[in-house]
Amino acid sequence: MAKRGPTYICQACGAVYHRWQGKCDACGTWSSLSEEAQAAPVPGGGRPSSGGRARGRIFALESLKGETQDAPRIVSGIAELDRVTGGGFVPGSVLLIGGDPGIGKSTLLMQACAAMAMTGRRVVYVSGEESTGQVRLRAQRMGLAEAPVDLAAETNIEDIIATLGQGERPALVVIDSIQTMWSSEVESAPGTVTQVRGSAQALIRYAKTSGACMILVGHVTKDGQIAGPRVVEHMVDAVLSFEGEGAHAFRILRGQKNRFGATDEIGVFEMTGAGLSEVSNPSALFLAGRDQDAPGAAVLASIEGTRPVLVEIQALVAPSALGTPRRAVVGWENSRLAMVLAVLETHGGLKLGQHDVYLNVAGGLRVGEPAADLAVAAALISSLTGAILPSGAVHFGEIALSGAIRPVSVAAARLREAAKLGFESAVLPAAGADIGDGNGLKLRRLSHVGELVAEIAASAPRARSRQPAAQADR
Ligand code: TYD
Ligand code: MG
Repeated sequence: MAKRGPTYICQACGAVYHRWQGKCDACGTWSSLSEEAQAAPVPGGGRPSSGGRARGRIFALESLKGETQDAPRIVSGIAELDRVTGGGFVPGSVLLIGGDPGIGKSTLLMQACAAMAMTGRRVVYVSGEESTGQVRLRAQRMGLAEAPVDLAAETNIEDIIATLGQGERPALVVIDSIQTMWSSEVESAPGTVTQVRGSAQALIRYAKTSGACMILVGHVTKDGQIAGPRVVEHMVDAVLSFEGEGAHAFRILRGQKNRFGATDEIGVFEMTGAGLSEVSNPSALFLAGRDQDAPGAAVLASIEGTRPVLVEIQALVAPSALGTPRRAVVGWENSRLAMVLAVLETHGGLKLGQHDVYLNVAGGLRVGEPAADLAVAAALISSLTGAILPSGAVHFGEIALSGAIRPVSVAAARLREAAKLGFESAVLPAAGADIGDGNGLKLRRLSHVGELVAEIAASAPRARSRQPAAQADR
């Protein structure tokens, strides 16, 4: 028999303890345990188990080969959103969308609701954070006041589900946000793991039985995780995150999990005075306003999902006054930068141990692929030596720990995008699939970082060079 008494639940990962402790053993978070009433019993868990003779309902088993029901999609009408969901919302599915406060989740969803309501489907938007007046005001500002969206400011799950059951079955229901919802069947306070999980369970059950598509908004903690309900991420069909740098107007919608499509697609938006507008050519946006006559900038030809995106990588390498030089990265992985720096020192002959290194991916994009290594290395060498990289060149390639430059996927598409945007040359790995004539670009194929260092250092102005080219050249 389980011990009764107070239960402490980690608000970060949902682990359950019977005694309070400062640190969660399961996820390592400090001060995340909070006392909650006994966790709600799992549905079905109350069946008689004593004597081991529980009698279950007998159900029919099916074969893989049965009738296939191709997931029909409801297109939202916002192409960048549909791209990330994999071609539209799937009826009966549940989607969780996370993002920092103020990033534009409510704005995006209101636009999607309005667009869908205009096609004659029933759409319900439930706000647990704003009053209907506030939501209406925002919709008016975006010019969406005419859209027949059903609006409510409610937080009780039972009330919401009862209301949804009235009238025509909704095609889309938006719950903004899951952290504000509470179920009267769960004793904990709203926002706690138990409440969030209980509310999400009830909403998911509603979506599965009614066939409506459910979108849950989830708040995100400082370190970028969907607050509290990590558990909810496992329960839903798709998880999207809405990202962006506060100072930039760009917003990027990224798939993290999708049971009905790929997760590597991104949708790009720009926040304007009248809501979010779609950006169908992100490269032009990310490259706008770049300073072409400064050292330390290299253009990366990257692939986001199926789409090539050109973006500027900026590096600043400066002598450090600190015992342990600073390394700061925005938009790329810290550990990956450390690796590129180590390879440049060991195999490129550069001395970076006494230098602060700052790296920034312009425009607020987060680059995840190793193909960025070569552009990062070029930007670092350029900043260190003072050599300005040719403004018409793009870079891509993975750097191995041995200093070898390794081929990356879809080189042809990267080159095509570069040619389309008026670039003249490309620095790329020597090995790799046939890329034809390179779309008219001048190709510089490298097989080792040593070649990259020698080439950039050779063009450095001697007077400005902070490190003699001979030294950089080994
Ligand atoms: P919101 O959708 O409320 O963010 P979230 O739901 O993710 O917390 O977006 C709020 C921000 O967006 C706010 O800082 C103002 C800005 N905004 C615009 O710039 N233009 C607009 O048309 C709207 C509606 C919001
Ligand atoms: Mg909001």
